Amino acid sequence: MLTEAINLYRARVDQQLESYIDALGETEPKLKAAMKHGALIGGKRIRPFLVYAVGELLSVPQAKLDAAAAAIECIHAYSLIHDDLPAMDDDELRRGQPTVHIAFDEATAILAGDALQTLAFEIISKADSPLSAKQQIAMINALAKASGYSGMCGGQSIDLQATNQQIDYPTLVKLHQLKTGALIRCSVELALIAADADEMTRQHLLTYAESVGLAFQVQDDVLDIIASTEELGKPQGSDSDANKSTYPKLLGLSGAQDTAKALIEQALSALTKLPYNSQLIADFARYIITRRV
Ligand code: IPE
Ligand code: IPE
Ligand code: MG
Ligand code: MG
Ligand code: MG
Repeated sequence: MLTEAINLYRARVDQQLESYIDALGETEPKLKAAMKHGALIGGKRIRPFLVYAVGELLSVPQAKLDAAAAAIECIHAYSLIHDDLPAMDDDELRRGQPTVHIAFDEATAILAGDALQTLAFEIISKADSPLSAKQQIAMINALAKASGYSGMCGGQSIDLQATNQQIDYPTLVKLHQLKTGALIRCSVELALIAADADEMTRQHLLTYAESVGLAFQVQDDVLDIIASTEELGKPQGSDSDANKSTYPKLLGLSGAQDTAKALIEQALSALTKLPYNSQLIADFARYIITRRV
């Protein structure tokens, strides 16, 4: 059931993303090709999955979730394009393909990331949206916060400063919560906004999202050690080669794996407090720490 739902939502968001990018016109075909390379080829689409799955749990029609699902994936794709740049992680392989700065050039990769970022906000703010204007503004606000200084960008900056450094556990937790947790939390928050969810529902689902979001990056660090380049579609050992601050580096491999498990237990426990059938997102939480890609 989880695999089917992941595939179904992936197909839906891919179709949305492709039509949004195609609709941009022919101002600059090279830039558009780079945006497509970074956004459309491969990728698990786990953030759009969370938007749709949490929305479905709260009985929101899919048409009210489409913009949020596409927008969060645009932000994610932009973050990966920039993350791979020589000035950041300097990686040449992503989703089994050359990274955008390798397939195109560095300046085009920077601009493709920038244009995907702004496309996210264009998509959410569209005039013909089935959402209310209040919901659209709330989504823009949530997505901007989760992407910027207090979210992903802040986390990426801590990551860069923590490279070749010894950092303490609280700093590592914050790094991971911001660079990766924030966008995963935001995926759930966008669905909560579309649902006009009550405070109790918000609280438990955001606890779920925060635990899953942190566990997701812990597992990403673990996979950098235990999975192959072929499985990952990105270079195995990139973190140790670059001397990154990761969970396995600070806690050891099994310490990191135990932490990820405990976080997923926390996520599952939050779901038991809700009066919904949350089987799908419970299965998704378990998948986060068993995945090999
Ligand atoms: C990779 O994210 C970068 C992190 C934030 C850990 P994903 O593992 O979601 O990458 P794709 O989208 O499936 O390629
Ligand atoms: C990625 O962290 C975080 C963001 C892109 C915001 P990583 O640098 O660990 O991601 P991968 O391993 O390159 O996908
Ligand atoms: Mg990085
Ligand atoms: Mg990286
Ligand atoms: Mg990584």
